[in-house]
Amino acid sequence: MKSSKYVSLLTDPKRKRSCLCTLLPAASLLCLVFFIGSAFIVTDTKGNLSRWGIDGSAQKLESNKCKNQCRPSGSEALPKGIVATTTNLEMRPLWGFPKKDVNASENLFAVAVGIKQKDLVNKMVKKFLSNGFVVMLFHYDGIVDKWKNFEWNDRVIHVSAVNQTKWWFAKRFLHPEIVADYDYIFLWDEDLGVEYFDPERYLSIVKDEGLEISQPALDTANSEVHHQITARGRSSMHRRTYKPGGIGKGCDDSSTAPPCTGWIEVMAPVFSRAAWRCVWYMIQNDLIHAWGLDMQLGYCAQGDRMKNVGVVDAEYIIHHGLPTLGGDDENKARLEYDMPKES
Ligand SMILES: *[C@@H]1O[C@H](CO)[C@@H](O)[C@H](O)[C@H]1NC(C)=O
Ligand SMILES: *[C@@H]1O[C@H](CO)[C@@H](O)[C@H](O)[C@H]1NC(C)=O
Repeated sequence: MKSSKYVSLLTDPKRKRSCLCTLLPAASLLCLVFFIGSAFIVTDTKGNLSRWGIDGSAQKLESNKCKNQCRPSGSEALPKGIVATTTNLEMRPLWGFPKKDVNASENLFAVAVGIKQKDLVNKMVKKFLSNGFVVMLFHYDGIVDKWKNFEWNDRVIHVSAVNQTKWWFAKRFLHPEIVADYDYIFLWDEDLGVEYFDPERYLSIVKDEGLEISQPALDTANSEVHHQITARGRSSMHRRTYKPGGIGKGCDDSSTAPPCTGWIEVMAPVFSRAAWRCVWYMIQNDLIHAWGLDMQLGYCAQGDRMKNVGVVDAEYIIHHGLPTLGGDDENKARLEYDMPKES
């Protein structure tokens, strides 16, 4: 840890709030927070340990301390109450008040798009908008105008940066503080068919099963399937895949790691708020393609990746495997990268 001054992020997952604490080394260690694995461990000056979420009183105490002493860096000069502490970041009319939105947006659908895939994207956007999602389009081909013909054009947020992948956009524009209002974040590729996918039903399975990181299964008949675990099964969802091959090669009930269990692919991930807060830090600038990121996602599963990561079969998608950003070469490179891991 730096000796002069450091910043740590205190989060209260239950209250959707967080605040940044700037601590001086001489000050007491009231708010010292360590990240160990994915759990929050808080220690006070006496060296007591309490785990957030388990010890409710300690959590409350910490959050009170935080309220009184820890202001987001730079906001210390603001008198109490001068501004609202949070905003939902919804688009608003220039004048007057927003229409009361019965479908208050609690989830975000973000997708990197090029105009060549506008038909598939159109279907996705319509589906997610009609389910009350906030939709963000990340335009990697610099073409924004040509989407104007779609009736939904003005209801989605457009971000344009040429030749950047969804991971770059996500790092740049989906900081966990900015998207803290959303329960779930869908960060998808554009070459996916959603004919057999219902976002609401999907999320109800995710919530029932306690999945922090998930993806819809791929329809095996019409999809390009790179990894067996993503293939659609017969149950409502699955957490592991089975295949023969012997120790270290196959997958069975004793497998504890990818590619047998505890992971998903990165084409259609769905993250809980807490998982996204973690994943955002894993995305670095050089991770344009995020190759290998999928194998690491388990660290962000908020506990046991064998339990909290899963593939939903009941609501599934078609992976068309179309050339997207960068064209054919990129897709081939991806295959070459992916395939050896499976064998
Ligand atoms: C609210 O959601 C329903 C479907 O759940 C949809 O039919 C309707 O258009 C949505 N309303 C708005 C204002 O988006
Ligand atoms: C974006 O990528 C395409 C295809 O690789 C290339 O032809 C184009 O010059 C790139 N544009 C920029 C601004 O880098």
